[in-house]
Amino acid sequence: MTAVAGAHVRLVDRLEASGALTPDWRQAFLGVGRHLFLPDLFWVSTSDGYERCDRTENPERWLQLAYSDAAIVTQWDDGADNGQREPTSSVSMPTMVASMLRDLDVQEGHKVWEGGTGPGWNAGLLAERQGAHNVVTVELDPAVAAQAAANFRALDAVPTTVVGDAADGYPPGAPYDRGILTCSVREVPPAVIGQIRPQGVLVLPFAPLFGGGAVARLTVAGATAAGPFTGSSAFMRMRQQRYQAPPVDDYLPGDWPGGAVREFTDLSPLGVVDDWLASFVVGLAVPDLYYRRSDGGDMTTLWLFDTGVTSWATVDFVDGAGRYEVRQSGPRRLWSEVEEIVRWWVKAGRPGFERFGLTVAGGAHRAWLDEPVNLLPSVKG
Ligand SMILES: C[S@@+](CC[C@H](N)C(=O)[O-])C[C@H]1O[C@@H](n2cnc3c(N)ncnc32)[C@H](O)[C@@H]1O
Repeated sequence: MTAVAGAHVRLVDRLEASGALTPDWRQAFLGVGRHLFLPDLFWVSTSDGYERCDRTENPERWLQLAYSDAAIVTQWDDGADNGQREPTSSVSMPTMVASMLRDLDVQEGHKVWEGGTGPGWNAGLLAERQGAHNVVTVELDPAVAAQAAANFRALDAVPTTVVGDAADGYPPGAPYDRGILTCSVREVPPAVIGQIRPQGVLVLPFAPLFGGGAVARLTVAGATAAGPFTGSSAFMRMRQQRYQAPPVDDYLPGDWPGGAVREFTDLSPLGVVDDWLASFVVGLAVPDLYYRRSDGGDMTTLWLFDTGVTSWATVDFVDGAGRYEVRQSGPRRLWSEVEEIVRWWVKAGRPGFERFGLTVAGGAHRAWLDEPVNLLPSVKG
C-alpha cells in the first residue's frame, strides 16, 4: 500500500469509528481521495494562527494534513491579496463532511444539489455515490469553480459544476430530493427551499449574526422547511450574508456614554461571547443583534448593536471582577435582551445544539427548543 493509500484508509477508518461516517458512505469515501482536492500550498488553523504548508517544501507534512481531521484553507479574502486574512474557501473538516452527508440521508437515485463547491471534495463524494448525473454543485467564485472543475478531472464521476449564486439554487436541475449548503447562512434562501421536493431534506450550517453555528437538518413541506440542529459547526459565511456594520457614529454621534443608562450585571459578557453554544442561543433568539469587542489593557469592552441602528450597549469586562458596568442606550436594552435569553437557557439546564430546531416559513425564521411549538422566548422589542 502506498503512503497516500494508507493515510486515506486510516482516515476513513477513524471517521467510521467515530460514528460521523455511516457504513453506507464508506465506499464513496474510499473511492475519492481528499488529497486530489488540495493545492500544493494551503493553510490549517492552529491555536495561535495558521500553519502554512507547501507540498514542494514538505511533502510528508502535506500528506499528513491532507488526511488529518482539519479544515484546510485554500483561499483568503475572496482571492484578493488585501491583507485581511479572512479564509474564504476551504476543503471542509472530514468529520463535518461525513456527518453532514449522514444527515442528508441520500437514497439510491436521489438528485442532490450542493451550494458552495469550494475545491470540490464533498461534490466528488456525492457524485461517486449518487452517479454524476444526479449531482449539481454551485460555486459563486469563478476561480474556485474552475479549480474544482480541474480537480474533478481525476474522478470517475464528475458532478455538474455551475458558477452562480447558491442563494438562487439551480432551477434547471430542480426539483431535488436533497440539498446541502457548505457555506453558512443566517437566512435560508427561499429559492433553495422552493427547489427541494416535498419531504425532501435540506442540510445547512446555520450561523446567527451574534455568533455560534450549528448544522440544521430541515425537511421541506412546500414553502416551509423545519427540523432540528444536529450539532455544532463553524463554516465560512455565504458571501452576500456577511454583515457590513454601519459606523459606530451612526449609533452614538457624540462621545461615549452619551445619555446611556448606567447599570451593573453579574453575567460575564465574555462568558457569553466566548461560549459557542451560548452565543448561538442568543443569536437564535435575537437575530438582529451583533457585537464588537474592544480590548484595552486590563479591560475588554463588549459593544452590542442592533441592525436596525436604534440602540447600543456596552459592557466592561475586567478579569476576576464579580460585576461588570453596563451602559444601554436607545429604545431597546440590548444587554438586557442578552441577559434574559442567557438566563432562560441556563434555567432550562443549558440545552445543547441538538435540542434546538428551526422553522423557516415565508421568509421568517423561528427557533425552538425540543418541539416546533416551543418557540424561544422572544425578547426583542
Ligand atoms: C467551506 S467552502 C466549501 C467546502 C466544500 N464544499 C468542500 O467540499 O469541502 C465554502 C464555499 O462556499 C462558496 N460560497 C460563498 N458564498 C457563496 C454563494 N453565494 N454561492 C455559491 N458559493 C458560495 C465559497 O466561495 C467557498 O468556496
